[in-house]
Amino acid sequence: MNYTGRYPSSRPRRLRQSDWVRRLTREHRLSVDDLIWAMVVHDGAEDEIPVAAMPGVARYSVRAAAEAAKRAAKLGIPAIAVFPHIDAAKKDATGKEALNKNGLICTAVRAMKDAAPDVGIMVDVALDPFTDHGHDGLLRDGRIVNDDTVKVLTEQALVQVEAGADIVAPSDMMDGRVGAIRTALDAAGKHDTLIMSYAAKYASAFYGPYREAIGSGKLGSGAVANPGDKRTYQMDFANSDEAMREVAMDVAEGADMLLVKPGMPYLDIVARVKQEFGLPTYAFQVSGEYAMIKAAAQNGWIDEDRAIIESLTAFKRAGADGIVTYFAPKAAEMLG
Ligand code: PBG
Repeated sequence: MNYTGRYPSSRPRRLRQSDWVRRLTREHRLSVDDLIWAMVVHDGAEDEIPVAAMPGVARYSVRAAAEAAKRAAKLGIPAIAVFPHIDAAKKDATGKEALNKNGLICTAVRAMKDAAPDVGIMVDVALDPFTDHGHDGLLRDGRIVNDDTVKVLTEQALVQVEAGADIVAPSDMMDGRVGAIRTALDAAGKHDTLIMSYAAKYASAFYGPYREAIGSGKLGSGAVANPGDKRTYQMDFANSDEAMREVAMDVAEGADMLLVKPGMPYLDIVARVKQEFGLPTYAFQVSGEYAMIKAAAQNGWIDEDRAIIESLTAFKRAGADGIVTYFAPKAAEMLG
């Protein structure tokens, strides 16, 4: 009997036939070690103020943030990325509240490090939570001025590191800021402070819910005229080679870790960055991605838990070493 050609020569389904063999052949594994918890803080007394556009996410008071840091430690979450919701009364055109040593971020960082010294604390370096116009930098004649903004960002990074931040994450996309921050940190003796640069950050619709979360409103609601969006500094979502140039600059300037943002629509960028540079590379599953999963799950259209694990594992498959995500505590519980 000649069976040639009667049966497929390979049957990939053999490797999927049961749980034990699926586990045995699994290529990528998501673990709690991969998670950075994205967390919003406010300076009021109320412990938790829910963010409507992000069901399940609340702005924490400083006290609640310290408790959350303890929870992160218990869950084994390695790090927290903290973002401030600043009182509108404290905002101005230059975002000077960003340099307040006793401001919300510094106070929260101190409280969190006190409560859970072994949890890494990452802070955003950018002016948007502090400016009344909502831009990440300083505006002059309706344009974001690069080099003067870099000076302020460098000061901001120093103030945050002085308060105890372990990782500074410039998310502003000004040219040259990683080098300026590295130089200033080294001059201040802060050789061990890590820089995770938002190396490839795109001008994205997926940041929508974040504006509510940090209360930065619509761009242009401030007193100063502005160009209306962030496209003169954040990247065009049609570009990929440009991301490699941005990353190369940040690496040359001293970035220790790289971040790609947003996450899921940009897995190709995550993969390229990891392959071409080989540095620890992270993806940010941003507010809009969180909101989409939540909204669909609330309607009964997708299974939330499965969507969380699938989306986070997809980042690992693309090459990410970890993920900044609002789902971190929930994912950690599921993985635990
Ligand atoms: C600000 C900043 C943004 C986010 C993190 N840092 C918004 C923006 O750049 O407009 C977005 C986070 C999210 O959407 O979850 N520099």
